[in-house]
Amino acid sequence: MTKIELVVDGARVADDVEPRMLLVHYLRETLGKTGTVVGCDTSNCGACTVHLDGRSVKSCNVLAVQADGCEVTTIEGMATDGELHPVQAAFHECHALQCGYCTPGMIMQSADLLRDNPDPSEEEIRLGLEGNLCRCTGYHNIVRAVQTAASASAGAAGGAS
Ligand code: FES
Ligand code: FES
Repeated sequence: MTKIELVVDGARVADDVEPRMLLVHYLRETLGKTGTVVGCDTSNCGACTVHLDGRSVKSCNVLAVQADGCEVTTIEGMATDGELHPVQAAFHECHALQCGYCTPGMIMQSADLLRDNPDPSEEEIRLGLEGNLCRCTGYHNIVRAVQTAASASAGAAGGAS
């Protein structure tokens, strides 16, 4: 067993883990963060996407020990003070989900995409989300949601200046 200490959704945690344990399993099984889901076993679907030190990663592709000393944000840490994150709000507003299985990963990846590029074109959004698969929506409303979140953030920034 290996001791790890990290911050998950703002809370400091420390655990002894098997060196081969995947981050997604640590989050779900040890910490009970079941909002992060497993959609494949091939690192393809992106359903398990979380932020590791602020960047999106597929948590089925990262060992828990690799997150030692890091900050992890899951979908469960995106809302603040009961307020949905702008990307969460936009997915809700645009009906950007059907079964919802891909949604946590889509939202985490979209937030990362918008941090790098606050005003992406449709093509840039589709490219940015190409590692996240959805078998329900046809992606149209997901792209709209990301555009809506981008506009909302631009509006908020404009309002703040
Ligand atoms: S569960 Fe991680 S990419 Fe599919
Ligand atoms: S909403 Fe069902 S997989 Fe995306």
